[in-house]
Amino acid sequence: MLNIAVMGYGVVGSGVVEVLTNHAEKIAKKAKEEINIKYILDLREFPGNPLEARFTKSFDDIVNDDEVKIVVEVMGGLHPAYEYTKRCLEAGKSVVTSNKELVAMKGAELLALAQQKNLNYLFEASVGGGIPIIRPLSQCLAANDVIEIAGILNGTTNFILTKMIREQMSFEAALALAQQLGYAERNPAADVEGHDSCRKICILASLAYGKHVYPDQVHTEGITKLTLEDVEYAESWGGVIKLIGRVKRDEKKKLQIIVCPMFIPRESQLANVDDVFNGILVRGDSTGDVVFYGKGAGKLPTASAVVADVIDCVKHIGARKYLFWSDGSSDYVEDYMLDTVSMYVRVRIDNVDLAYHNASRVLGGITRLSRKDAPAGELAFITESMPEKDIHKKLDALKELGVEAVSMIRIGDV
Ligand code: HSE
Repeated sequence: MLNIAVMGYGVVGSGVVEVLTNHAEKIAKKAKEEINIKYILDLREFPGNPLEARFTKSFDDIVNDDEVKIVVEVMGGLHPAYEYTKRCLEAGKSVVTSNKELVAMKGAELLALAQQKNLNYLFEASVGGGIPIIRPLSQCLAANDVIEIAGILNGTTNFILTKMIREQMSFEAALALAQQLGYAERNPAADVEGHDSCRKICILASLAYGKHVYPDQVHTEGITKLTLEDVEYAESWGGVIKLIGRVKRDEKKKLQIIVCPMFIPRESQLANVDDVFNGILVRGDSTGDVVFYGKGAGKLPTASAVVADVIDCVKHIGARKYLFWSDGSSDYVEDYMLDTVSMYVRVRIDNVDLAYHNASRVLGGITRLSRKDAPAGELAFITESMPEKDIHKKLDALKELGVEAVSMIRIGDV
């Protein structure tokens, strides 16, 4: 019998306990060992819970118990999850987590500590919830040079965008619905401002290219400024707006990495990833495009990935798994302003014809877009591809001529 502890009895933690309990026999067969939940760490009381006797409020009970070989950290947040994870690894316990914030911030350090101690630090559930992506990326696709990864990595924002696109709901109304249905938190900033997607693309980039990318190195935009006008123009252009996390490596081996809303062509495999689903496209030099699709959040999908990692850990007690990347550096990520993009731009202006003439003159060949029932004084167009800094410079010049952009969205070539 192998003893484990679960730290955090929230949505994911209770899901992990539920899966381990309900599928105990099947899991024991797969792990070739019975798994016993010896402790559950949570500061709250759970009277009447069938495992009530296993609950503890003291982390020391876990870290000082040599019988506990694997610790599941599903507390979320940086502190004290970071300190607890470190102490568990130092005490010779492997750690399994769904905590994307911690992996994105401290992954290199914790992986190095695990390696030093010949332990495992596994985090399949940190990206894509129940979708297998960490293992496929590090094992099954290992023979490839990863040319690019682009993903819809956040279910909450994808639900909101789907409502805006399909039902013409405003951002505010769609967010309220997402909150009502329990998808979005009461404070939805981490989702709608793009931070959650940023953490996830950092983890994928670190894994794919072998060096840590920190969230503060990634230019991140959320979806709070998107309007139904932009949604309609995306439609008339031939696509949809999606919040995309994207990374590729340039010829100088620097990373081009960004999180932002993008116009995605309707024929893209990511265009039909709707509602709370996630979709992740990995472009390998040998495989071409491989797409991972499924439920990126939720109690049981996420618990399924955590428990699979626990089983893997049990089977590899005393043997290191493959996950590793080295520490990052400040010059590893390219300035996003140097990336070549084309941009959707919407302006409000009295004299549309004059504005179109000036925009064409300043920006070069632009493609004008139209939408049904557009009010007078609205102009929208797509620029040609050029370094993003040039687009901004030209839009500044246009502003001098009285034409000011009220909305700008990058065109995604995924
Ligand atoms: N808030 C996240 C989402 C949860 O909506 O995708 C899963 O990481």
